[in-house]
Amino acid sequence: MQYGYFDDDAREYVITRPDTPYPWINYLGCEDFFGLFSNTSGGYCFYRDARMLRLTRYRYNNVPTDSGGRYFYLRDSYTGDVWTPSWMPMKSQLDSYECRHGMGYSRISSSRNGLGFSQVSFVPLHDKCEIHKITLTNDSNIDKYIDIFSFVEFCLWNANDDMTNFQRNFSIGEVEIECPPEGSSAIYHKTEYRERRNHYAVWGVNAPVDGFDTDRQSFLGLYNGFDSPEAVFQGQAKDSVASGWAPIGSHYIKLKLSAGESKTYVFVLGYCENPEDQKWEAQNKINKKPARALLEKYSTSEAADRALDELNDYWKNLLGKFTVEADDEKMARMAGIWNQYQCMVTFNMSRSASYFESGIGRGMGFRDSNQDLLGFVHLVPERARSRILDIAATQFPDGSAYHQYQPLTKRGNNEIGSGFNDDPLWLICGVAAYIKETGDYGILNEKVPFNNDESLADTLFIHLKRSFDFTVNNKGPHGLPLIGRADWNDCLNLNCFSKTPGESFQTTANFESGVAESVLIAAIFAFVGPDYVEICKRTNREDEAVYAEKSIMMMIEAINNHGWDGNWFLRAYDAYGKKIGSNECEDGKIYIESNGFSVMAGIGIEDGRAAKALDSVKEHLDTRYGIVLLQPAYKNYHIELGEVSSYPPGYKENAGIFCHNNPWVTIAETRLGRGNRAFETYTKICPAYREDDSDLRRMEPYVYAQMVAGKDAIRHGEAKNSWLTGTAAWTFVSISQYILGVRPVFDGLLIDPCIPSNMKGFTVTRHFRGADYLITVDNSAGKEKGIKSVTVDGNSHETVHGGAAHGGAIIPVFGDGKEHKIIVVMG
Ligand code: GLC
Ligand code: GLC
Repeated sequence: MQYGYFDDDAREYVITRPDTPYPWINYLGCEDFFGLFSNTSGGYCFYRDARMLRLTRYRYNNVPTDSGGRYFYLRDSYTGDVWTPSWMPMKSQLDSYECRHGMGYSRISSSRNGLGFSQVSFVPLHDKCEIHKITLTNDSNIDKYIDIFSFVEFCLWNANDDMTNFQRNFSIGEVEIECPPEGSSAIYHKTEYRERRNHYAVWGVNAPVDGFDTDRQSFLGLYNGFDSPEAVFQGQAKDSVASGWAPIGSHYIKLKLSAGESKTYVFVLGYCENPEDQKWEAQNKINKKPARALLEKYSTSEAADRALDELNDYWKNLLGKFTVEADDEKMARMAGIWNQYQCMVTFNMSRSASYFESGIGRGMGFRDSNQDLLGFVHLVPERARSRILDIAATQFPDGSAYHQYQPLTKRGNNEIGSGFNDDPLWLICGVAAYIKETGDYGILNEKVPFNNDESLADTLFIHLKRSFDFTVNNKGPHGLPLIGRADWNDCLNLNCFSKTPGESFQTTANFESGVAESVLIAAIFAFVGPDYVEICKRTNREDEAVYAEKSIMMMIEAINNHGWDGNWFLRAYDAYGKKIGSNECEDGKIYIESNGFSVMAGIGIEDGRAAKALDSVKEHLDTRYGIVLLQPAYKNYHIELGEVSSYPPGYKENAGIFCHNNPWVTIAETRLGRGNRAFETYTKICPAYREDDSDLRRMEPYVYAQMVAGKDAIRHGEAKNSWLTGTAAWTFVSISQYILGVRPVFDGLLIDPCIPSNMKGFTVTRHFRGADYLITVDNSAGKEKGIKSVTVDGNSHETVHGGAAHGGAIIPVFGDGKEHKIIVVMG
């Protein structure tokens, strides 16, 4: 069944009942202050780094789930009725409920016994705070006397320490409280401000208060949960002052509402910093200047509305860069709205903070961030540029790279180190995408450190060369790339024989075989290599281009000679030189990744192996919910294969539907001109097509999940790990560039659709290098691929006919700030 619906005009998903099969969340914030916000007002917020600068506490894996958020408790002081209008944490019976998740904001509205409530929550542009604007409306015909209690629980900044170091933390919590008779009433969380921090949090409201609480135990009662706060049930704040234990922020406001009357409050939860020499306004009194300015700025309902309007304009403008109109509204809303929105979220969050990523663990991944870039480079090219330079600075002089780096320091993570041998190639992939989007070859001349060491700096081009050479210089016995600790599949750990519980499967590199090879890395090389060649040619590096072309040919030869299994592409050779992903294997006979990527690289297209490989993928790996990663699933732990065989069959890398790699098959199908198959692959993992199947799928119907349980799992079809996944970028690439076929190339915008034969046509608008392209595709001929004619601003334009794989037309770069009409007729 469905738990809501899409409102495409408003760019919102509307959740119509609070008890969704999992908390369905949204992200607030687009610059450096972020909040996670569930459909029942759960979640938390942080400034820049979810681990080190977390403002509010959140308990992962709690019972009940999704405990902790920005809550408003209401009490009818006449009847004594107490409820939470966001449903949680009291699971209050509501007469109506709705949550609208929009672009960077969420709106919860509900009512109970004639009292209407609405809350709109967002992070305004350019400020480090969350705004929660609430409105109460008396829809009854009698006067109402309402007690309002706000509630947030402060995190003592370092989220990891906050959840582990109680012997210290129960003694350090400190707050300050300001309750002037007029204006903002603010609670300041200043734990550790005395010594080494120059920041505090403020939780204020634009109205005088009738009381407050800052001590959790006083507010809740020691043995109570968030669902039965003592102060609220007593209808009286305790005016508690936190001293150690658990500091919270709760405002108490008594409100009289006549029949028909409404009242609005603006609550602001902000992060404030002071320069070292201006930390104090008096002994032990923090300097509140920045907080006062922030609260003053949002001290009226109109100011909050204006900030929300600005945010809406920001998103309207951003999503205006690529729009789609088509009969298939599910595809249109995903490609035009939600998929791009999710790409921005992965840009901001990488893999740090979601309802499955605790914000404590992983920083930015080298390969993940480069791939994420493919999904947002058209939206924020200038931010993509600086991201590329940050990533490249964590590369080592030999071309290998830190696998992860910290967003705050931008330095590589020593605990994980390097040795994931696919990493370097993704830098070429990301930079090529950036140059195709922008035409900015100048980025290649930027000086970028190696290993974060300025004295080792060289041009970005040299970084690309080192990436390319790393693969050339690290090959195994079959001339295929050595895999190292793993390739894209983090769990194919062919040199890390791990027996000890708790030890990392990836970093236990205790068996440096110098033998284990990856066909996937070879295919990635064959896919990104030609872009490297083009970059060399276009920057007058002819000799390098010749060398690179030769290296690619040798790699393709190695795949042809040692990477083909008869009906599909092999996956790898293990540390003993044994095949992985071969018909000879007992389990793991066929893997998805090397098949998708080899065909993406064009290997086997001419001699029919590509079609055979994709047909094998369909036969052995396809399910109604998407393509599983491998088959048969590993039933036993194989120490020589690593983590992949550690998961129960059907989950994650062990034969789960690992959505990230499904679009590789989609793209591969388009290379064969098979639009029906490509689209089928696209829709199977696309959440909007499974909206009415939410009880099984469980995750948000508006965003991709990293994984859906495969056919070997008991819960086949159940999704997990929504939001932060490379699936977002790759599905956007697959739908926008390969199915709808609007693809930036070095010389312009290539139009080369490969669509299902029953799709009558579509319209895409694409902002590209300073001009707008209005592209209309007519498929009344019912084709899957191939263009009969193209006109550009009324003039007929040349098309390229090179067989199914190379149709299309390259529309030139106009760069004139104007709109250009492109009409494409398939046939
Ligand atoms: C996760 C990782 C990504 C990896 C994938 C497959 O999504 O973030 O780096 O490629 O798993 O193992
Ligand atoms: C990736 C995989 C996950 C594995 C992790 C290890 O995220 O998806 O299965 O545990 O990498 O780094």
